[in-house]
Amino acid sequence: MLSSTRRGLVDGLRVAVGEAGYDRDVAPSDIELEAFDDEEKGEFSSAISFAIAADAGENPMEVAHTIADAHRDHGLPKGVARVTVENGHINYHLDATAMARLTLGEIDAEGATYGARERADPDRIVADVSSPNIAKPLHVGHLRNTILSDALMNVLEERGHDVTRDNHLGDWGTQFGNLLHEYVEFGDEAAFEDDPIAHLLELYQQFEQRDGMLEDVADFGALTEEFEDAIAAERAYHTDDGKAWFARLEEGDAEAVDLWEGFREASIERFEAIYAELGVDFDLWLGESFYAREGWNDVVIEKALENDVAMRGPDDSVFIPIYDDDYDDAGDPDRADVDPSLDRAREMLAAAGSVEEADFDAFYIVKSDGSTVYGTRDLATIEYRIREFDADQSVYVVASEQNRYFQQLFVAARKMGYVDIHLEHIDYGMISLPEGSMSTRGGQIVTVREVLDAAQERARDIVREKGRNVAEDEIDAIARKIALATVKYGMVGANRGKDITFDIDEAVSLEGDTGPYVQYATTRAYSILDAAEGVPAVDDVDPTAFNDTDYDLIYHLGRYPLVLDRCEERYDAAPLAHYLLELAHVFNSFYHKNRVLDAETAAEERLVLTDATAQVFENGLGLLGIETLAEM
Ligand code: ARG
Repeated sequence: MLSSTRRGLVDGLRVAVGEAGYDRDVAPSDIELEAFDDEEKGEFSSAISFAIAADAGENPMEVAHTIADAHRDHGLPKGVARVTVENGHINYHLDATAMARLTLGEIDAEGATYGARERADPDRIVADVSSPNIAKPLHVGHLRNTILSDALMNVLEERGHDVTRDNHLGDWGTQFGNLLHEYVEFGDEAAFEDDPIAHLLELYQQFEQRDGMLEDVADFGALTEEFEDAIAAERAYHTDDGKAWFARLEEGDAEAVDLWEGFREASIERFEAIYAELGVDFDLWLGESFYAREGWNDVVIEKALENDVAMRGPDDSVFIPIYDDDYDDAGDPDRADVDPSLDRAREMLAAAGSVEEADFDAFYIVKSDGSTVYGTRDLATIEYRIREFDADQSVYVVASEQNRYFQQLFVAARKMGYVDIHLEHIDYGMISLPEGSMSTRGGQIVTVREVLDAAQERARDIVREKGRNVAEDEIDAIARKIALATVKYGMVGANRGKDITFDIDEAVSLEGDTGPYVQYATTRAYSILDAAEGVPAVDDVDPTAFNDTDYDLIYHLGRYPLVLDRCEERYDAAPLAHYLLELAHVFNSFYHKNRVLDAETAAEERLVLTDATAQVFENGLGLLGIETLAEM
């Protein structure tokens, strides 16, 4: 109800501003939602009077009064009782009874679709989600990505968009040449069969370590010439051989492709088991290799050269130059005013002598050895998403470590002429675990497997300890759902830009800012409903019977669609997570302050309210991928 009320207020305010004689456009953000319990502010408030007063050189108080009068004359939307002016703000006060009637009616009528939206012209959104590199285990960073992107895509779908989830695997690049080299040299088939990812990771680390050691020795200096040559030869053997293997892969050499496919399939098989456990799904698994193998890299390289967007360096590499001022609007990639001309770059290059020294950033699409890079495949992905999907948006859930890279990619994309597609890097902060909270097998990286196992173990303890109604054979199943709630809420509970420390012992708790806390509130609602003899029809109850605590809860239920608006605007699921936590608090205080089943007045009304609350919990938790529990 609140979201249509807000829309009604925005429209009405627009008319009122005009009728009051001011020439100013009214945006949805000109009406803000306030807390329910602030008498003075009302539930909605507008500060537009200040901006108008500043423009017109008038007093904000007077402006506010003039607009409020005009709005009152024009008519307030359903459910809004009055408009007042306080400290220059225009405040709208809801009629609590009308709000209750409208909100409960809406939730009852819409059920599982309460909060959803239908759009006449939805955006086609193709999203990079999860996107781990093959031949390595999934770690906590991937966990945050996978869960955040699943929740966010659920929200975007719920808001009526057409979303394609693409698990853009990192399955191409020089590192796989190195890995092929290392495998052919030192690989062990039995070890690979036994645990492919562990074996490949070991080989990969071994390669990196040796290369690092050789580099250290080379840097140490004061070596005999002979020794230096030997070191250089040894390094060249490995890295050049790695490069050669990647070249073979890019050329489609059968041996290289066979081995690589084995790595890829084994990795996907392991990833899938974890994704299934998390309950997440993808529409596509194209991966970087797709763009290399299906010729899309060549398409963009040719296009870039033909359109004079990219140039060839003295070493035969191909790159798109990016000038400092190209970044000016990079915060808003849709408006980046980029300069695609190469003349400036040519001059800068001539002055500097080398690409590295030149006064621009080079966005490489071909390296000097002829191989493609990460950026080539990302441009190819945009080309493909436009051509095959007619995408309105190409969005990337990727850690903030890659912020700079995505700024460059988006500038390069604009230069390529991809200007009608909205590009968005949905970045998120680092995640770490408190020291000593888990003993990790590998030492430095914490895998998703380890986190899930630990959560499951902790959840089982909780069910054993607290679960009153739980039969022994159900403990595991319930613990699994609590464990998932723990991990999922933990991953989206903080705004996505923030670095987080995931403390599993806190996150699994039934108290505090946790998923299980919200789950528990829902279970409480279910048990009330269970004990009642059916829930009365909304139209049969009397909203005037509600008290302030009841109204507070109703008001929060009404806010739910507005919270989804905010998630959509921010490309984040955290507002939803926070909201559900607050709803759990409000519901718990409703439960503690009121009688429900044996109330002398409003018993029927509170059953309807409890039923509506359970519905909103289900809808919201469902979007976060968290299951509710009848018992816990
Ligand atoms: N595989 C990359 C990584 O693990 C992330 C890929 C993100 N998507 C992209 N289109 N660049 O760092």
